[in-house]
Amino acid sequence: MKPSKDNIIGKVPRPPIELKSASELAVMRAAGRKAAEVLQKVSKSLRAGITTKQLDEIALNEIRSLGAKPAFLGYRDYPATACISINNELVHGIPSSSRVIKDGDIVSIDLGVIHEGYYGDTAATYAVGNISQETQKLINVTRESLELAIAQAKPGKRLGDISWAVQAYAENNGFSVVRDYCGHGVGRRLHEEPSIPNFGKPNSGIRLIPGMVLAIEPMINQGNYDVKTLGDGWTVVTEDGKLCAHFEHMVAVTEDGNEVLTRI
Ligand code: MF3
Ligand code: CO
Ligand code: CO
Repeated sequence: MKPSKDNIIGKVPRPPIELKSASELAVMRAAGRKAAEVLQKVSKSLRAGITTKQLDEIALNEIRSLGAKPAFLGYRDYPATACISINNELVHGIPSSSRVIKDGDIVSIDLGVIHEGYYGDTAATYAVGNISQETQKLINVTRESLELAIAQAKPGKRLGDISWAVQAYAENNGFSVVRDYCGHGVGRRLHEEPSIPNFGKPNSGIRLIPGMVLAIEPMINQGNYDVKTLGDGWTVVTEDGKLCAHFEHMVAVTEDGNEVLTRI
């Protein structure tokens, strides 16, 4: 999502962060699990020759068979179930019957479900066929930056610790961190407070407390961090045309640390 400025600048009063009770967390655990199951199902069909529209149909069928609803379809008039973004496309790629996956592509699939009124949201980037070592490194570093961020999502830590974990690891590996999109709280709405930038200062920002559910989603570029939106109004691409990667997990902050709700 686009970062909310008040969260970054810290001048405007922020809307409150909605903490989830144990019973809400139980529902969100199921929502997260369903999103993860759909992502896994779609990723198993990902291969050269399939269209992104076919993948989208698999996603919608799987969501329905799990008894959930597609979260993105109709969200701000988004026209599909999944966001499928290829190579230099970062996020919000619209599935299309004319878009055929090719050998050597890297493909980010982002999936959202609504289960009993609560959102599940998860994403991952996959290689199709043969990719270069440098491209594999981009995928690995992005995935690992998410794990490092998750390790910071504990009571007593602060939002900036999550942001810094992503930024430091990505930049130390020679990549750049997208500024224009960030992670978010999640619950009864897809995008809740707080905004979770993938860049920031350690030991800054709000303190994390049990009951927060955070969608942490590093978006990392091989070239510079600038991105732009295509004429379809949705597809976000790197400005320099170089590759990018995106992973997302929903993480509940608990008394003991955290629980990743979208890991299966
Ligand atoms: N899944 C995106 C996120 O992680 C939001 C997609 S909204 C859509 O925040 F409308 F593009 F589907
Ligand atoms: Co998402
Ligand atoms: Co998200």
